[in-house]
Amino acid sequence: MCSECILVSEEGGESGTGFREEVTQLSRMTHWLQLVLSVGWGQMGMIVVGGFFLKTLFLERGKGERKRGRQISVDCNISVCRTTLTMEPPVGSSLLITSPLLQEFFTDSLWGTLPCSWQEALDGLNPPQLATLLLGMPGDGEVVRYRSVWPLTLLALKSTAYALAFNRTPGFQTPSEFLENPSQSSRLTAPFRKHVRPKKQHEIRRLGELVKKLSDLTGCTQVVDVGSGQGHLSRFMSLGLGLKVKSIEGDQRLVERAQHLDQELLQALEKEEKRNPQVVQIGSRRSPHHVVQWVDPRTRCEELLLPLEDSPQGGARLLLTGLHACGDLSVALLRHFSCCPEVEALASVGCCYMKLSDPGGYPLSQWVATLPGYELSYRLREGACHALEEYAQRLQKAGPGLRTHCYRAALETVIRHAQPKLRRPGVQGIPRVHELKIEEYVQRGLQRVGLDPQLPLNLAALRAHQAQENRVVAFFSLALLLAPLVETLILLDRLLYLQEQGFHSELLPIFSPELSPRNLVLVATKGPLGQAFSVLESEDS
Ligand SMILES: C[S@@+](CC[C@H](N)C(=O)[O-])C[C@H]1O[C@@H](n2cnc3c(N)ncnc32)[C@H](O)[C@@H]1O
Repeated sequence: MCSECILVSEEGGESGTGFREEVTQLSRMTHWLQLVLSVGWGQMGMIVVGGFFLKTLFLERGKGERKRGRQISVDCNISVCRTTLTMEPPVGSSLLITSPLLQEFFTDSLWGTLPCSWQEALDGLNPPQLATLLLGMPGDGEVVRYRSVWPLTLLALKSTAYALAFNRTPGFQTPSEFLENPSQSSRLTAPFRKHVRPKKQHEIRRLGELVKKLSDLTGCTQVVDVGSGQGHLSRFMSLGLGLKVKSIEGDQRLVERAQHLDQELLQALEKEEKRNPQVVQIGSRRSPHHVVQWVDPRTRCEELLLPLEDSPQGGARLLLTGLHACGDLSVALLRHFSCCPEVEALASVGCCYMKLSDPGGYPLSQWVATLPGYELSYRLREGACHALEEYAQRLQKAGPGLRTHCYRAALETVIRHAQPKLRRPGVQGIPRVHELKIEEYVQRGLQRVGLDPQLPLNLAALRAHQAQENRVVAFFSLALLLAPLVETLILLDRLLYLQEQGFHSELLPIFSPELSPRNLVLVATKGPLGQAFSVLESEDS
């Protein structure tokens, strides 16, 4: 196989050409995937995918002397681009490698929808092998060894999925703050950790510090935290980092809880101050200013982003932030950033892409809207919200919890038999699934969905399903392989939307993906930040 590597330097990134190229590739890729998902291998027969693999783009974060913007390494694999990949002989139904339908693994014979050569390659792989070979996440010190020759189609899908997805590895070492104690960040003082889970401790510290730097760089006078929930981020930014913070949250109960936690923290800090006056900084403490309000992209700026009462008249410069602002809320943030003259900067981490309105939530950029096949189905967007790295860790540990998907899929066969019209009913919260025999799980599941738990069960069939546990896991792993691609497409579309309006934007991986899988922050400013962008992702000493 011969390959060519062209290094494209994207100084400043003002033109957005690099992003557009990436998006085109991604869109083609997802288009292809959707084609596969909807049409099925059988009808596809010979598929020319050369175009999709023509340019495999790698985002390469130049370290050290990196200038503003980034370098994009374009790996043009000539051999692959010329290849017409031949799909397997007809197998009937379509390939449905997206997670929500995993419950139908047995009822819809999903394993049989994979090309035979894929089945051969994946069958018999245990969970750690799946993590290593399919997801490309080997265990510590593990040497990667394939036990058979994988079909080119599967290798191509895997390589393309890796190559096109945005880099999710932050610049810092795996959360050093939890080395001493896995539940307490060593970089937050005890009062700031109280009531806050380790994942959230990591997130509020990392995003809070980024917001502080961005606020200083852009001369902002206040931060608006939208979708602030219980206010953990707002509290850290105001009482921990000294920022002036307005917190907007639609759920009144969460706002009341946030205000209660503010008071608790203030008291704890005052006590600490009295006990230790030389160590603790004495200064005027300002809690976040909480507002109960549902934010809408059409809400008028003046209504939403009024400067706090004590802001100097006419001089307010706002930084808009949102930590896991779900679905359309992230879109609202982007729209307010671009429409409100007072908003100078944005730092937004999104989540729950399946909640994006259609149309309205995606695509946002004109560029993506003109691409053929840009659409992302609900299933693909839902799949993009999974935790790839965390699942790979679970695969490496090969714990009994992995059997849940298989049990659930087996339950679906019993439900379908008992009540054919009942499809994929919710069966949440069966405790300690991994300790149950499959028939015990099925009985509890039947009860959960309102069916008779004493229904006679075909134990032999259930055992046969259980024997396919690794196939279910392999199928789910295939679906997860695509998750970062879809997320990348959604986020690159947002970058392009901002660039089309002449703003400056970057996507930075700021959270450890194992701790917090939605870990990319979209940072945007109205004025150029130049090299200062790179300061934002660095870890404070
Ligand atoms: C995933 S939670 C994140 C909460 C918080 N930022 C955190 O990280 O702990 C999203 C929050 O946004 C709020 N929210 C969602 N849509 C909203 C909207 N349109 N306006 C205001 N709040 C919204 C929800 O009530 C929820 O508390």
